[in-house]
Amino acid sequence: MTSIGKSLPHDSAHGHVTGTAAYIDDLTPLADELFVDFVGAPIAAGHLRSIDATVALGMEGVVAVLTHRDLPGTKRLFGPIFHDEPFLVADEISYIGQPIVVVAATSRKVAHAAVKAIKLECEATTPILTIDDAIRLGSYLGPRRKIERGDLDAAFATAPHQFTGVLESNGQEQFYFESQACIAIPGEDGSVRVHSSTQNPTETQAVVAEALGIGMHQVVCECKRMGGGFGGKETQSAIPAVMAALVAIKTKRSARVIYGKDQDMICTGKRHPYKTKYRAAFDDDGRILAVDVELHSNGGAFADLSTSVMERSMLHMDNAYYLPAVRIVGQACKMNYPPNTAFRGFGGPQGVIVIESILQRIAQQLSKDAVDVRRLNTYRDGDDLANTTPYGQLVKDHMIVETIDQLVATSDYHNRVATINSHNVTSRLTVKGIALSAIKFGISFTSKFLNQGNALVNVYTDGTVQVSTGGTEMGQGLNTKIRQLVADQFGIDTDQVLLMTTSTEKNNNTSPTAASAGTDLNGQAAIVACEQIRGAMTRFASEKLFLGGNDQPPSVDHICFLDGFVFDDRNSAKKIAFSAFCDLARRDRVDLGGRGFYATPGVDFNRETGQGTPFFYFTTGAAIAEVTIDRFTGEMTVDRVDLLMDVGKMINPGIDIGQIIGGFVQGMGWCTNEELVYDSTGKLLSTSPTTYKIPNVTDIPAVFNVATIDNPKHVINVSRSKAVGEPPLMLGICVWLAAKDAIWRLCAGEPVQMPLPATAEANLACIASRLMPCHPPAPLAPGHARERGRG
Ligand code: MTE
Ligand code: HPA
Ligand code: MOS
Repeated sequence: MTSIGKSLPHDSAHGHVTGTAAYIDDLTPLADELFVDFVGAPIAAGHLRSIDATVALGMEGVVAVLTHRDLPGTKRLFGPIFHDEPFLVADEISYIGQPIVVVAATSRKVAHAAVKAIKLECEATTPILTIDDAIRLGSYLGPRRKIERGDLDAAFATAPHQFTGVLESNGQEQFYFESQACIAIPGEDGSVRVHSSTQNPTETQAVVAEALGIGMHQVVCECKRMGGGFGGKETQSAIPAVMAALVAIKTKRSARVIYGKDQDMICTGKRHPYKTKYRAAFDDDGRILAVDVELHSNGGAFADLSTSVMERSMLHMDNAYYLPAVRIVGQACKMNYPPNTAFRGFGGPQGVIVIESILQRIAQQLSKDAVDVRRLNTYRDGDDLANTTPYGQLVKDHMIVETIDQLVATSDYHNRVATINSHNVTSRLTVKGIALSAIKFGISFTSKFLNQGNALVNVYTDGTVQVSTGGTEMGQGLNTKIRQLVADQFGIDTDQVLLMTTSTEKNNNTSPTAASAGTDLNGQAAIVACEQIRGAMTRFASEKLFLGGNDQPPSVDHICFLDGFVFDDRNSAKKIAFSAFCDLARRDRVDLGGRGFYATPGVDFNRETGQGTPFFYFTTGAAIAEVTIDRFTGEMTVDRVDLLMDVGKMINPGIDIGQIIGGFVQGMGWCTNEELVYDSTGKLLSTSPTTYKIPNVTDIPAVFNVATIDNPKHVINVSRSKAVGEPPLMLGICVWLAAKDAIWRLCAGEPVQMPLPATAEANLACIASRLMPCHPPAPLAPGHARERGRG
């Protein structure tokens, strides 16, 4: 009996609820360990003139005060795509909180006190804080990219309808519960071992080696698990690792860096805010004829992953819909905020929301049902023309239309629209809205080289198995799924298989656990390693063990590994326990170890031409949300959500449904109540859970139906599964659309200008501006919020 397809609990579930699952700060300090903290830049832009650490250095317990001058390496800049980011500020200050001085002390308390005692002299310059200013000043990161197809000018010249608009979406904090954290332990031969809360052990290893001027072979990076990553630890776990490693190398003592929550929120990058101009042309039925969009993102001060995130936005501008003539232009802007970075969806949400907004607006303008308009525009499986993306990839073997139809039926959509309309006529207190949105999320890193994984499998003589891959566990259940895949390979119980701590010592040159491809890459690599071992095992079994058991010649094709036994399927009476079999195999000098490698076939994308096949396949789905908004406070309640996704044949349905629910709610947070507020100097004001509101348990939809659709056409990928980590986040967009729908129903006419997030204040301002057009909209929150308001 295979465990594949079973909802086994997360392999750390017991540890999570009992508190025995260790995170970085739970690791017992080594003797003489130092606590490390840092002084961050007090201004968003300017120059560092001097550092006065006299008082700090005189404090008892302060062991080291280090600056960029103490970095032993010759390289001064790092970065995953462009090397443009300094490890520590030398002169130019680029964002508030940018690390300048590293302090090591014998206790946390002394380290914090020393940080406070260090005086910086800085000369401020004018920071670039809005996308408009960045565009005006030509302050960019990387080149401007374009994806296009068809004759845009002709389509706009002849279209019966068209409109233009601007859509702004705000950023989002990853809000992992374990802040950035790292412990570095000095070793022999100039080496260092770092325990990092990172999605990207290889990148951490490489950046530490560069900063210290040592070889990658002298750095080992380990990660047992993260208390959440959500993209925020794909690249940004490198800076704390550099600080810890620098102290470890300089002092020859173990060094611990644990960011405080506020500190983490202030100085690390987030989801990219976007400002997008669009133009859409359509016919009387609501069929899209042409779309022309220009996306700009706030990339923050350094390139980090911004060009890659923008690429994914551009590749998701079509979402689930066929756009006959299209031009998508994208440019990341260099601004004075922490470098914005990966966040679940990786630019996808910012692209998807544009086309979903356009479709809703088309429906409103034509007084048509928004679901009908979407259905009319979805990709059509089997029709190669209406199934090809703007970048030339065929969307094969999908069930997008079927998903929408099934969801409309099971959610009783049409009857509920009627009920909502009558509610809105009779209720003086609240207004209701409903909306559907879809997702077609491309699975693969858009940088081809990252689509690889390797795995190490050790089988022991008692029949137990250790598996190590480059994948990292952040709560998403990767380890549990790989355990199931490996147990299945040997026909043994999952209890016999353990996933070992991720370490660059066992798995080298690995990709970050990102792009939702963790199981696809590492799971398949683990299977390849198991196949190697099984190959040796079956040869041994057929040649030496079961010979003579029947009259037939030995054949590897007949050796089975099932239910804890090994046998020849022509004579299953003579079976041997897997554990005894492993012991015999070793005695016969059979290699019981394997290293597997997997590279995703067929993916390639040319970013110069904007054409290619960037994705191995697509994870798809749709969602319908119904909301109620208080007309007098703007407060919104999500009454009901129905989700339907094609996530392939699930390896672990319990984990996948958890990912769908968690992803959706996180997307809903981005769209509704997570609001990053900055002051006019670029300082983040919402720096903790008291001021930054992620969805809480009372925000979860009262009725929340989650289902998956069985797609027999999906036959590729590991065990016919599909990646699930990021796609459901973008279904949260239907809540934002439902809010807009509610306000539209209140007073149809002009399109609804709704900012993102649609907070209670934003909803109220929106209602006020529609019901009292001669009154100015209610004031919004300070800083960024004032810039928004068009969508
Ligand atoms: N789920 C949990 N519980 N915690 C996380 O940090 N990160 C998400 C998603 N689900 C995350 C999560 C992101 S951004 C990605 S890319 C995927 O998990 C990564 O893991 P996978 O590729 O193994 O799905
Ligand atoms: N997704 C997530 N992370 C990434 C990607 C991507 O496409 N490319 C590089 N890092
Ligand atoms: Mo996920 S944003 O690809 O780490």
